[in-house]
Amino acid sequence: MDPPTSGGSAAVMWLAAAAALLLTIAVLKALRKRDDTSNKHAQGKPAGMAPAPPVLHRVALARFALAVARNGPLEAFRKQQAKLGSVFTARLLGGLFEVTFLVGPEVSHHFYMGPESDINPGNIYDFTVPMLGPEVGYAVDLATRGDQKRFYWDVLKTSSIKASMPAMIEEVEAYFLRWGEEGTVDFKHEMEELLILIVSRCLLGREVRERMLGEVRTLFRHLEDGLGLISILFPNLPTAAHRRRDSAHMRLREIFTEVIKSRRNSGRVGSDETDDVLQRLINSKHRDGRSVSDVEVVGLLLSLVFAGKHTSSSTTIWTGVHLLSNPNYLTACVNEQDLLLPTHNGANHHQIDYDVVQKMSTLHCCVKEALRLHPPVPSLVRQAHKPFTVQTKEGIEYTVPKGHTVMSTILMNHHLPHVYKDPYIYDPLRFMAGREEDKVAGPLSFLSFSAGRHSCMGEAFAYTQIKVIWSYLLRNFDLKMESPVPGINWSTVVPMPKGKVMVSYRKRQLID
Ligand SMILES: *[C@@H]1O[C@H](CO)[C@@H](O)[C@H](O)[C@H]1NC(C)=O
Repeated sequence: MDPPTSGGSAAVMWLAAAAALLLTIAVLKALRKRDDTSNKHAQGKPAGMAPAPPVLHRVALARFALAVARNGPLEAFRKQQAKLGSVFTARLLGGLFEVTFLVGPEVSHHFYMGPESDINPGNIYDFTVPMLGPEVGYAVDLATRGDQKRFYWDVLKTSSIKASMPAMIEEVEAYFLRWGEEGTVDFKHEMEELLILIVSRCLLGREVRERMLGEVRTLFRHLEDGLGLISILFPNLPTAAHRRRDSAHMRLREIFTEVIKSRRNSGRVGSDETDDVLQRLINSKHRDGRSVSDVEVVGLLLSLVFAGKHTSSSTTIWTGVHLLSNPNYLTACVNEQDLLLPTHNGANHHQIDYDVVQKMSTLHCCVKEALRLHPPVPSLVRQAHKPFTVQTKEGIEYTVPKGHTVMSTILMNHHLPHVYKDPYIYDPLRFMAGREEDKVAGPLSFLSFSAGRHSCMGEAFAYTQIKVIWSYLLRNFDLKMESPVPGINWSTVVPMPKGKVMVSYRKRQLID
């Protein structure tokens, strides 16, 4: 499985690739001075196999790298695809490693569905070890990893989401009480704060939420700040950021080990008060009967937090950006809430529950469309351990050689006009019955939660918490975006709106 962490980390991989491209320019410039002959890596064609994908030669590669830096990846990839088609290879650092890009659902099957032995993340996630500890994810053996995947499923399954909902709703209600009757807020900041509170309460437990939130938050920030481009290539370089990351990791271990010990000793297992993800992880058992160790619980918790926090806050924020700049969809969502939760008791006191959240299909499509335009993980990377053949939608076959790094360009896939009509337009109705554009070109058309063996286990949990937040906002406030529609900041781990997103609100007047 991709640990839930591959959420953030894969986004960083994308940045790393962009940086490597830029680095390549420098290297190539130096090389060009010495050797100005044409590309000597002529394409080997294994007997009986389709040819290797076209290669971005030096000048094109440099141009591509500059375009990524200047115009963002979407524009750069679109131009590149127009020239070379939906499968092409970039040779980085003078051939030191080769990245093959797969654009579109037609060529993505092996990437997502191929056997683990043929194509897998390899050591791409090594850099998460100093953040999460050596007890989880790709740092452990296959059997343990299988067990951990089961633990994740267990805390993210429907019954666990249902059990988490009262705490989730309580956090949301308490948070928005602070807003008062009317005002203007930095929506980005507000949603990030709220998600930290929800995630802390539902995952880390009441102890941390109530007594140590300030410290834990700072420690998490140090872990994140230790995740720069350089950390992906050299996770243990003795930099100040890495030192802070490592001591934050040690301190988090101390804090959680203590909480876990006190829970184990208190014997309050299974009571309502302790029915959070932390408790369910503590209760987990490996297949061989072994109880999960304290440090393992810490690693599992950190992974869940990293996977859930930025991805959900970015999606909550992007949903807002699009809803508030498309009044017709905003109105449709408000109407849906009013229909589902009749206002005769005074809307503030409505109890929503899991089932009613499942019925919010208009809101669901609006969140999903924000996820299409802004996949929190814009691309994923794997290592090809065996050659494999893909066929483009034009019918051209290519064999991707063994040893290549392979990148699925999720962001690009979500903007292909033969899959999504007017792909740059925010149009939630495209997912509705009758159109279902995410299914027409097959199951690999919508990849915001990845697909296949490595798909995100937190999908239902994420949708639930995002819809709980938006349901509350829609029922209780008239909202208006005061900032212009923001562009995309590609420099963050999960792509976010550029600058501040100022939103004004006014408490809704309820008419019976
Ligand atoms: C973009 O993100 C980076 C990294 O978080 C941040 O330093 C920068 O201020 C952001 N730029 C804008 C315009 O939001």
